[in-house]
Amino acid sequence: MNKIEQNAALDPVGDRLQRAVQSTLRGQRVRDLLHGVWLGHPLHPAMVQVPVGAWISAAVVDLLPGQRRAATTLVALGTASAVPAAVAGLNDWAGLARDQRRVGLVHAASNAIGVALYAGSLAARMRGRHGMGRALAYLGLSAASVGAYIGGHLAYKQAAQVSQSISELHRMGDDWHSVADLAALPERKLVTREVDDVSVILYRHGDEVTVMLERCPHQSGPLGEGEVQEINGHACVVCPWHGSAFRLNGGEVVHGPAATDQQLLPTRVVDGILQTKLP
Ligand code: FES
Repeated sequence: MNKIEQNAALDPVGDRLQRAVQSTLRGQRVRDLLHGVWLGHPLHPAMVQVPVGAWISAAVVDLLPGQRRAATTLVALGTASAVPAAVAGLNDWAGLARDQRRVGLVHAASNAIGVALYAGSLAARMRGRHGMGRALAYLGLSAASVGAYIGGHLAYKQAAQVSQSISELHRMGDDWHSVADLAALPERKLVTREVDDVSVILYRHGDEVTVMLERCPHQSGPLGEGEVQEINGHACVVCPWHGSAFRLNGGEVVHGPAATDQQLLPTRVVDGILQTKLP
């Protein structure tokens, strides 16, 4: 897996596919829908439950006598539902870092082979060739299982589409921390401060002050260098790297590629000094 991460020979294909995905999925609404912004969670891993569940069920049903129709239905369901799951995955993949895209490309290729084998299995079953359909389905399950293993590496080792900011909290002490003199804090401007080596941004709006982790949950971009924009009537910080946007009065993700909210920290004012702590 480490060799795949470092294999630059995958880049020409990956770069071409990335351009194709970005030029095909151009609308912000479509991209946000596929990232899972509306869900507050990446959509792709949720969607793959349907094909994986259907295909594993088909593998079990194929071992039972008199269950040809049930097995054919499950293979059809798995194959059809793999297509939107793949589109959501490609939408996430196009916004990943280069080493993650290399692994993602091999993950996608394994799964594409799996889908092709299942499509062949479905075609064979519909022509009455159930033995061939079963064999192709078991080969498809093998290819999809390799794809799932690689997807696990992408998620759990390379942390693709996992919040990059939340682990920052583990480096903060439990106490209240003084971060700014409230009277000196400018209105409606992002100010960056450090709390136990953890970067946070402060945003004052009248008497309300938001304290938010500074690392973007998508790929650790510096939100403190981002712009404040009004989106859907709410002041939002827009990441300077790939444009994810988060509401400054709640941390909710408004635009992807990030699919998770950004963490806010509690605040209090003691003798004119703004303090913050762990949630
Ligand atoms: S790092 Fe990608 S949107 Fe912030």
